[in-house]
Amino acid sequence: MKFLKHIGILSAMPEEIGSTLDNLMDVKKFTFGDLDIYQGYWVDHINKINILVTTAWSGWGKVSAARAATRLLGLKGDYIPIETLIFTGVAGALNNDLNQWDIIVPNKVCQYDMDARPIFDKFIIPSLNKKYLDTDSLLQKWAFDSIKKYLEDKNSLKFGKIYDGIIGTADKFISNEKCRNSIIKEFPRMQAVEMEGAAVAQVAYQEEIPWILIRVISDCADKTAVQNFNDFLDDYSKFSWNLIEVILKNISSVKF
Ligand code: ADE
Repeated sequence: MKFLKHIGILSAMPEEIGSTLDNLMDVKKFTFGDLDIYQGYWVDHINKINILVTTAWSGWGKVSAARAATRLLGLKGDYIPIETLIFTGVAGALNNDLNQWDIIVPNKVCQYDMDARPIFDKFIIPSLNKKYLDTDSLLQKWAFDSIKKYLEDKNSLKFGKIYDGIIGTADKFISNEKCRNSIIKEFPRMQAVEMEGAAVAQVAYQEEIPWILIRVISDCADKTAVQNFNDFLDDYSKFSWNLIEVILKNISSVKF
């Protein structure tokens, strides 16, 4: 079968991939140690094309995410390579205007636990000499607008508002005011924190593959974070496919 598009979709947890595998045809599994990668195709009935989707959940944290991204992009097959890498999942809000179910499609991400001082300035990723990784602006705008349009439709279910901005990644689950405030002090404009996005972005950047992040707010990274995160995840697993479906439905309109 010929595919016109091939996208990679990663999450940290199966709940963030939700029922995606049930919506793909002819799913094949590739196993690398403890990582399972699934590949199948989604039928776009409107545009009459089949979109190849390669997906996995990486586990939490930057190393697991980078490893899964590298494996995903390196998967060899008889088909066009992955053209866009999408990382999707939940995040803890720093911006007080954000609520559970709000969505962030960031323009840039940062590894806010990176600190190679005094050789590099704080937060600079040494191998790139950059503090922020910028997403491709056209791709970000396309994803943002596609989701915004979906939110304006009647069927957008539980989701709230959509935002762009900065997302921060670190190997830390933020669940108290002290940590939350110290991140806000360093990054007053950071929307939310999570534990994988900027690691996947670094791999994609270095592999020269366009990438985007789509994060849904699960908690406020404060003392209520653990309870809210756990409760949210149960519910979110029923809806995470809806966001992925929005991307797949609109992918034929984006130029890679
Ligand atoms: N992902 C979702 N909530 C988070 C939090 N509070 N800290 C880090 N990553 C998260």
